[in-house]
Amino acid sequence: MEQKPLIDFEEESTKVISDNLEQVTRDSSKDPKETTDSEEAKSKDDVTKLFEDFLEKESLFVNKKVLQIRYIPDTIKHRSKQIEILASILAPALRKEKPSNLFLYGKTGTGKTLCTTYALNKLKKIAEAKDIPINMVYLNCKLKKIADTEYRVIAQLAREIGSKVPTTGLPTDEVYNIFLRKLDENKQIIIIVLDEIDQLVTKIGDEMLYTLTRINQELKQAQLSIVGISNDVRFIENIDPRVKSSLGEEEIIFPPYNAIELREILQARAKEAFREDVITEGVLEKCSAYAAREHGDARRAIELLRVAGELAERENLLKITPKQIDSAEDKIERSRIIEIIETQPKQSQIVMYAILLLLEKQDGKLETGEVFEKYKELCKQQAINVLTQRRISDLISELDMLGLINAKIVSKGRYGRTREIYLTISTDMINKIKETLKKQLY
Ligand SMILES: Nc1ncnc2c1ncn2[C@@H]1O[C@H](COP(=O)(O)OP(=O)(O)O)[C@@H](O)[C@H]1O
Ligand SMILES: [Mg+2]
Repeated sequence: MEQKPLIDFEEESTKVISDNLEQVTRDSSKDPKETTDSEEAKSKDDVTKLFEDFLEKESLFVNKKVLQIRYIPDTIKHRSKQIEILASILAPALRKEKPSNLFLYGKTGTGKTLCTTYALNKLKKIAEAKDIPINMVYLNCKLKKIADTEYRVIAQLAREIGSKVPTTGLPTDEVYNIFLRKLDENKQIIIIVLDEIDQLVTKIGDEMLYTLTRINQELKQAQLSIVGISNDVRFIENIDPRVKSSLGEEEIIFPPYNAIELREILQARAKEAFREDVITEGVLEKCSAYAAREHGDARRAIELLRVAGELAERENLLKITPKQIDSAEDKIERSRIIEIIETQPKQSQIVMYAILLLLEKQDGKLETGEVFEKYKELCKQQAINVLTQRRISDLISELDMLGLINAKIVSKGRYGRTREIYLTISTDMINKIKETLKKQLY
């Protein structure tokens, strides 16, 4: 019988694909005003031809799904130790004993979500086959509208185990009660996975985690274990010590992959994803080297390979060469920068916009004071409250940390200190960023 997967992931971001579409749309609609009827007809034909050619072409991919981030490969390399510990901590659930709470941490793309999903899917399979009452709930705390208030989180957990909870309207205590009652209906072990738990705490604090880790005291039949996963390595140090000790009963560290490990991971994925001989020499090495530089991020490595494949296909190439990896790296980096810009708070966006406007007129470097003046002007135009120069200076240093600008402190002798501000993004990106900011701000 077909097993229902434990985790029903939302579809992976299709940003790159939609970027592609945008590109195609723009290119095929050059200056519509100037096209005559026959030219228009011709361009329609071109489009039809493009689609037809596309259909006729043999794809470079045999199974592109394999390069989706959520794909679960059959074998997981370089994580056998972590998976083994994970499994041995969860195993007591099979004897109806409560597994210890568990905390996994490591940087993004180190395989935390994959290994957890993998182990829990196997546990679920055995439990179902042997009729052992284990229930598992996976929640990605990064998701908006699910994990941005305590109410929503508990409501979602309750729904996942089969309760009906309205999206708003009840007191939070009542939602807890619904959740507890449902949990305790059966003698069962419930394992709750809170992935990207650091984001949850950033959004709503650690009070809720405290409550969750105490829930067992109120349960008569069921027993609850929590698996917390964090990309932020220092997360657990900064939470309430009581939560820390109970959530971190057991800890598993996921270290970054090195370039050699990344290459092996990629090789296995590439073999399933592409037709034979599509990947030429040096491609996987280059991907791994870029991703290792990034901090040993397998997600980045896989994304690079997928985007490179898409680019090669669009250029009608039959093979992927290291050149496409460079183009893919460039493309991903660009969308990363735009995404950072889009998700900044409004005040930071205004500061960034001020910097760009100033540098448009004068080449080279700026000082904090100049940026502050321009910033004030922009705020007034839009009736936004003006922060102090001190705060603006902080926002400037945050933009520096994000890698958008370089803001180095220089001493001006007895006039104190200031920052010298340069742009670090390439000049051809500047217009795109300006457009993005304009759209966000106006
Ligand atoms: N050891 C591995 N073998 C195969 N694929 C891996 C491995 N580690 C990570 N991946 C892949 O890299 C991507 C990122 O892994 P993920 O588990 O989401 O990282 P994290 O949760 O630590 O950010 C996923 O597509 C995953 O399948
Ligand atoms: Mg993850």
